[in-house]
Amino acid sequence: MSSKTDACFSLPIGNWRPEVDSAIQKQAVDALESGRVVFLPNLPFPLTAEEKLYLRPDCVSPKGKSVKYSSANKKLWGLAKKETPEILDLMLERYSKSAENLITTLFPGYAPALLTGNASYRPVEADGRVQSKRHDDRLLHVDAFPSRPVRGERILRVFTNINPNGSMRNWRVGEPFADVAARFLPRIPAPFPGSAKFLKLLKITKGLRTPYDHYMLGLHDRMKLDTNYQEKVEYAAIAFPPGSSWIVFSDQVSHAAMSGQYALEQTFALPVAAMSKPETSPLKVLEGMKGMLLVPITY
Ligand code: SIN
Ligand code: FE
Repeated sequence: MSSKTDACFSLPIGNWRPEVDSAIQKQAVDALESGRVVFLPNLPFPLTAEEKLYLRPDCVSPKGKSVKYSSANKKLWGLAKKETPEILDLMLERYSKSAENLITTLFPGYAPALLTGNASYRPVEADGRVQSKRHDDRLLHVDAFPSRPVRGERILRVFTNINPNGSMRNWRVGEPFADVAARFLPRIPAPFPGSAKFLKLLKITKGLRTPYDHYMLGLHDRMKLDTNYQEKVEYAAIAFPPGSSWIVFSDQVSHAAMSGQYALEQTFALPVAAMSKPETSPLKVLEGMKGMLLVPITY
């Protein structure tokens, strides 16, 4: 097992719009794009007294694991029927804006192209019962969305542990993306001709699933389904304490959430062209291995 120091780049900033100089910004972007977790040990997200009343797992609809929020559409969903949305609405809106401030001040190069996606509140213990391996985030994986093709854009996520009882959120971080890809990509068959149109027609995907999305989903599934891989591959264990936050390219970093309850999360999309080193992106790595464009203009 490698150490936490390799997997993490620690920054002792204490607010969501930190004043950092360009040397720190460069270190942070280098760490993030090279597949490390940017760990902010002193960045809590304080809750109001009213918000604290929602520190209970039964506020989530029995079908789901989290309450979702879109700042762009001012929409909240995934809440249990008996709950009123107003308080969590405000909490997630505030978290969305805080996470946006954090990313745009720490990574100013991303700011013009950054797209704010959904936020989520995760009050359910991560070490819980799951139906299938594909849905089990306790298994090492890279993130890929089955129904929302990203077309090569990066998945950037901010997390905060808001556990009130001192419990850690425990992650594992696995091998570098290039190693994951070298191991699994050769085993993934090319998409079936016409399958992207078919999936869109059946409304399984929102838009066309590009070859890039096909291969990323293939990596996600094959990693999780390979029991031998899960048992043998090296990983670093990271315990994120309450009051800490972390930033990660979850499409690149092999990760597993082993345990932990009460976290906030904000997802961003980032076009590869906005990166400081685009060649480190999963898109460029996979295209290099395949020797072809994986988001062709016909998509
Ligand atoms: C995941 O993206 O696999 C889950 C992360 C978490 O909830 O801590
Ligand atoms: Fe994940």
